[in-house]
Amino acid sequence: MRKIGVLTSGGDAPGMNAAIRAVVRACVFNDIECYGIFKGYDGLINGDFKKLNVRSVAKILGRGGTILKSARSDEFRTPEGRAKAYEACKKHGIDGLITIGGNGTFTGANIFYQEFGLPVIGIPGTIDNDLYGSDNTIGYDTATNTVVDAIDKIRDTANSHNRLFFVEVMGRDAGFIALRAGIATGAIAVMLPEEELTIDELIAILEKGAASNKTSSIVIVAEGDANGGAYEVAQKVNAKYAQYETRVTVLGHIQRGGSPSAWDRVLASRLGVAAVEGLVAGELNKMVGLVNDQITYTPLETSISMKFQLNKEELRIAKILSI
Ligand code: F6P
Repeated sequence: MRKIGVLTSGGDAPGMNAAIRAVVRACVFNDIECYGIFKGYDGLINGDFKKLNVRSVAKILGRGGTILKSARSDEFRTPEGRAKAYEACKKHGIDGLITIGGNGTFTGANIFYQEFGLPVIGIPGTIDNDLYGSDNTIGYDTATNTVVDAIDKIRDTANSHNRLFFVEVMGRDAGFIALRAGIATGAIAVMLPEEELTIDELIAILEKGAASNKTSSIVIVAEGDANGGAYEVAQKVNAKYAQYETRVTVLGHIQRGGSPSAWDRVLASRLGVAAVEGLVAGELNKMVGLVNDQITYTPLETSISMKFQLNKEELRIAKILSI
């Protein structure tokens, strides 16, 4: 392994920069040249490569976003696009690739490896935490803290007006942020893509709360919930139950920004080093992860096809504590 390329793809996540820094520095430490590839797979196709050295990644450890930029590349979904990407890798003498991203990123990496055999390792970087093969993904902790901070503020105004708030959080297919934030903010209910809570069930919970003199409540709605987003849920509840004055807040992309938490910085640093060491050791076409605090390498095929499940204990205690 003499030249490694690193890119970030899909939705950015706080801590991606810390992972890039770790990859670059672990390469330099191991006498490997490292090339940054800009704008995800689009940059791979267009040969948007830049050699990075130790100082290129100075002072990015605590910065949100990704200095390499990111994209969801349509061209890389085509065989022609991937062939162009492989040519660009050959031209630059890249003999290993590290892709930082989520499910879509790894789906692309897996196909690319099958087609051209270029060694690749994925680093899980997404706020959604929905990748099989790592207990946590880079960005999940920071995003959850951002949500908790926002809901604490919403709680103040909800309390002052005796209102019911529906707060929508990110998670297209996964309720990890919603569940954790629900426990951490004392939400009365959490609506998740993984576990359907019907509107009638939700109203029963709200009625119980009102009967025990609850004056304000927060319902967290993951964007992928089967009842629709927070606006739809609020509308459906209002139509059947007028006990509370309701308001809706959609937190949106604020959840993806900001300086990474200490946890995410350390996770990204560990996974970045382990990705380079994995490529050197011949762990090909795998996702590096942290399971029970141990570095693991899971085949990309497995990490994209298996569903990482919500923690059952967290689901259980969220219900116990929200009464
Ligand atoms: O995958 C991360 C994520 O933030 C999801 O939670 C969300 O549904 C999606 O990205 C939004 O993507 P975009 O920024 O492309 O609209």
